[in-house]
Amino acid sequence: MLNAIPSGAYTGLLHTHKLVVLLFIIIYVVKLALLLFSEANLDKMRANKPARIFEMVLSFLFLGTGITLWTNVADPFNTLFLIKIVAVLISIPLAVIGFKKKNKILAVLSVVLLFAVYGLAEVKKKQSLKPQKQEMVYNETQTSVHGKQLYEQYCQNCHGADGTAGLSGAKNLQTSTISDQEAKTRIKEGKGNMLSYQKILNDKEIDALITHIKSIRK
Ligand code: HEC
Repeated sequence: MLNAIPSGAYTGLLHTHKLVVLLFIIIYVVKLALLLFSEANLDKMRANKPARIFEMVLSFLFLGTGITLWTNVADPFNTLFLIKIVAVLISIPLAVIGFKKKNKILAVLSVVLLFAVYGLAEVKKKQSLKPQKQEMVYNETQTSVHGKQLYEQYCQNCHGADGTAGLSGAKNLQTSTISDQEAKTRIKEGKGNMLSYQKILNDKEIDALITHIKSIRK
C-alpha cells in the first residue's frame, strides 16, 4: 500500500501537483466566467485545439500526481483524503457536462466543489495541530518523558519504527549525521513535509526525542 519514493521526488511531485491544481482551477474559473458572461468566447475556447489538449494534459497530470502522492502519504485512508477524492471525482464529470451542455448550475457546482476541496486541504493543515496539543498537556504531567513513546506517537508515521521508512519524503534517521542542535532546529521548525513541533512538544520532550533518534543510528 505504501511505496516510499525518495524525498526529492516526493517534494517535486507535491510542487507539480499544487501548480497543476492551481492552473486547473484558473482554467475552470475562466471557463465559468465565459459561460456566464460571454458564451461566444467559450465556444471559441472550446473549439481551440491546443487549449483542449493543454486542458487534457493538465487533467492527467492532476490525477496522476494526486494518485501518486496519495499512495505515499502516511495515512491514505484518512477521511479528508477520501472526501477530497470523492469531491474531485464528482466535480470533473459535472464540469464536463456543465460546460458541454452550457448548464450554468452544473458548471457553478463543479467549480464550487473544486474550491471546497482546496479550502478543506488548507483548513485541515491548520487543525491538525489541535488534538496533538492536548496530548502535550497529558505528557507534561507525566513524571518521566519517554523519547521512544513520543517517537511512536509523533514521528513513526513518516520515519518508521527504525527510522528508515522515508514516507512523505522523510529522511533516513539511521544514516543521519546532523548534530543535536541541528536536530533540535529541525524538530522545532520543521522542513518540507515535516511539521514544526515547537508548539506541540516542549524542550524536555524534544531532548528525549533526540536521545531516542540517536539511539537508532547505525
Ligand atoms: C509528515 C512526515 C514527518 C513526520 C511526522 C516527522 N518527520 Fe522528520 N522529516 C520529514 C521530512 C520530509 C524530512 C526531510 C526534511 C528536509 O530536509 O527536506 C525530515 C527530517 C527529519 C530530520 C533531519 C534528518 C537529517 O539528517 O537531516 C530529523 C532529525 C527528523 N526529521 C526528526 C523527526 C522527529 C523527531 C519527528 C517527530 C517529532 C519527525 N521527524 C516527524 C518528515 C517527517
